[in-house]
Amino acid sequence: MTQDQQHTKRDGFSSAFGVLAATLGSAVGLGNIWKFPYLTGANGGASFLLVYLMATLLVALPVMIAEITLGRKARANPITTLIALAPSHQPWWLIGAAGMMASFLILSFYSEVVAWVFAYVVKALSGSVLSSDRAVTEAAFHSLIADPVQSLVWQWVVLASMGGILLLGVSKGIEALTKKLMPLLFLLLVLLCAVSLSLEKAGEGLAFLFNPDFGKLTGAAVLTALGLAFFKLSIGMGTMMTYGSYFREDQNIPSTAVRVMAADLCVSLLAGIAIFPAVFTFGFEPAAGPALVFITIPAVFSQIPMGQALMVVFFVLTAIAATGATLSLMEVPVLILQECFFLPRRRALALTLAMLALTGSLCALTNSTLSGFTIFGLNLFDLFDFVSSNLILPAGGIFIALFVGRVWGFGHFRQALSNEGQLRNETMARVLFFLLRYVSPLLIFLVMLKGLGAF
Ligand code: PHE
Repeated sequence: MTQDQQHTKRDGFSSAFGVLAATLGSAVGLGNIWKFPYLTGANGGASFLLVYLMATLLVALPVMIAEITLGRKARANPITTLIALAPSHQPWWLIGAAGMMASFLILSFYSEVVAWVFAYVVKALSGSVLSSDRAVTEAAFHSLIADPVQSLVWQWVVLASMGGILLLGVSKGIEALTKKLMPLLFLLLVLLCAVSLSLEKAGEGLAFLFNPDFGKLTGAAVLTALGLAFFKLSIGMGTMMTYGSYFREDQNIPSTAVRVMAADLCVSLLAGIAIFPAVFTFGFEPAAGPALVFITIPAVFSQIPMGQALMVVFFVLTAIAATGATLSLMEVPVLILQECFFLPRRRALALTLAMLALTGSLCALTNSTLSGFTIFGLNLFDLFDFVSSNLILPAGGIFIALFVGRVWGFGHFRQALSNEGQLRNETMARVLFFLLRYVSPLLIFLVMLKGLGAF
């Protein structure tokens, strides 16, 4: 079979809007709703936001564009992509292998949080978790996460439903679904923001989100902002390379990436605007950690007119956001198994799901059977989150930037970025290349050292 024939047989995104929806679907996820608001709250509000913005523009966006460009050039999974584009015998493909590992680590805890979200959609519908007493909503949440059976079963429900969508393929599964879900997500989010902003102490919530507190901006907070930017844009582990390999030949990569970044930021801010004014109005603690979503939100909604319906909306919205991201996380190992180990898609999926049921159970059981088990003082759930977001993704980012900036070179990068000469974006290519060659790797490296307490 010639290379061209192979290319025509490969699944991929079929329309420009489909590319945008799927890529945005990967970026928008639990990160926006579960991580972003509480991390912003805990790390100084607007000052954290500022650092997050800079990390996104100077580091994450160029790396995202680099990943997509590499993937589209090689039209393959991250391992094969780096083998194909690197000089022979240089082990750059290890970035892809580390990405596969990161994908399992992230999915292990991510799928459990999605499991709680799915469970809460059902609980919100039945009204069982609604109470204005925080002690009651807290007890309800703990009874869910401390029950090994419920934790595992909901995780399997999540894994099986994602597997079902991926079985349909890239254009008929991922693309078709995210094209419908993304507009719906924005609609629901705007609705919730309108409700939240109409509440009495909305101003206090907004001040919390937008007033800076530079005192809280420690090295660890800066590393958190960088890790969050990577996690949010799904970069540093080959997800965007994988999706890049499905991009259309005529897709304008930088403009798509900028739109995804901007829309993703919009969703994060809107999520903050939907959450904090309501939280303040009812006198709750804003920086309540991950429990903000599952403990505080139900207590807040119980005090708003039509609260139960709005709570259903909130958890459906979160489930929608999480779905696109989970699909993209799973697609990485599935495509690697398909292309590097020559497995049919069905088998690659089955194997990925079986492994995830195993590694995921380590996180699903952290609050029950494995509750006493810690490494470096962290339970497995938090350890997987820390190692992937704060170590593997930024390190992956350094190597991807170095690969493009030092190995692949400006000529190849510019050529691919301009759709083989179709687009006039030479200046943009130069700026991006400069960032990738000098700025991004150095910044990531320094932030990692500082955040890990090296100086
Ligand atoms: N970007 C997703 C979110 O914000 C998470 C994710 C990370 C998805 C890495 C893919 C890869 O929730």
